[in-house]
Amino acid sequence: MGEHIKQILEQAKQVIASCADELALQLLESRFVGRKSQLAGLMGSLGQLSPEERKTAGILLNQAKQEITELIEKKRAELDAIKQNMAISRDVTLPGTKPQIGHLSPLTYINRELIDIFKELGFEVAEGPEVETEKNNFDLLNIPANHPARDQWDTFWLKHVKDAEDNTLLRTHTSPVQIRYMQNHQPPIRIIAPGRAYRYEAEDATHSAVFSQIEGLMIDKDISVAHLKATMLHFVHRILGEKHSIRLRPSFFPFTEPSFEVDVSCGLCVGKGCKSCSHKGWLELMGAGMVHPQVLHNVGIDPEIYSGFAFGAGIERLTMLKYGITDIRLFLSGDMRFIKQF
Ligand code: DAH
Repeated sequence: MGEHIKQILEQAKQVIASCADELALQLLESRFVGRKSQLAGLMGSLGQLSPEERKTAGILLNQAKQEITELIEKKRAELDAIKQNMAISRDVTLPGTKPQIGHLSPLTYINRELIDIFKELGFEVAEGPEVETEKNNFDLLNIPANHPARDQWDTFWLKHVKDAEDNTLLRTHTSPVQIRYMQNHQPPIRIIAPGRAYRYEAEDATHSAVFSQIEGLMIDKDISVAHLKATMLHFVHRILGEKHSIRLRPSFFPFTEPSFEVDVSCGLCVGKGCKSCSHKGWLELMGAGMVHPQVLHNVGIDPEIYSGFAFGAGIERLTMLKYGITDIRLFLSGDMRFIKQF
């Protein structure tokens, strides 16, 4: 009988441990220690044993019953506690937990600021697609196939579609928006085009394969470098502050002639030279220049009558300069600790 009691006890331990609700526990209670349980049956058959056997079996039966009863009580207390906790968490009178809400990217703020600044100067916002044709991104901007200048723009090419008119790519800069706009509008033209651009390059603290630019274009009669310089200075004063000055450095872009790199005086040392500007006193801000006559010709604007300037600035770079951000990868990280600071 001892063996049998042991078996019942083991089985009871197992099923009670895995029991997950009150009703099931009640059924287990009557199954293992109720009036019709196996233990009760064994109790009833004690009379058939010899007095010695009856004594040991009686003790074993009582111990088993007590142990099972205790296990059931413990389990009942556990299930009760869980039920109470659930009741608390469902208490509709308790104050709710606030959901985390999103926050605008610093790039959005800067974009809005840039648009406001240029709108005041009479510029309109123009847009173009991020999937561009090779023609708009390169050829019409005076960057023909096999021209070494194409190396400047590491390109994500898209799969060629059979019978398609042109190859497609992810635009490597916002300059193709100039082409699209000039093909459909005659001067006077004053536009800015903020948007995403893509380059197939290794990412580090200052390079991202996905980034934003703002393109600017002004075409009219008698537009000169003086207009370009005044517009750039105004723009820098408004976005970075009046203490900054700018300088134009000769550079090369196939779509402008002459071409410049616009530098801004370092905000930390105000042009004296420090670690952040590599002791130069100046930081590179953007590319700019006078629109190449060939580009005007390509879009059907007469370069004998009209001239203009264009510029293209990296918006992340501008934002990093303005706020002292040291890693461009933060912009796309989605890290709320970063974004919430703006
Ligand atoms: N598209 C050039 C780039 O991404 C930047 C640029 C330079 C734009 C000169 C212009 C410009 O419109 O005139 O590197």
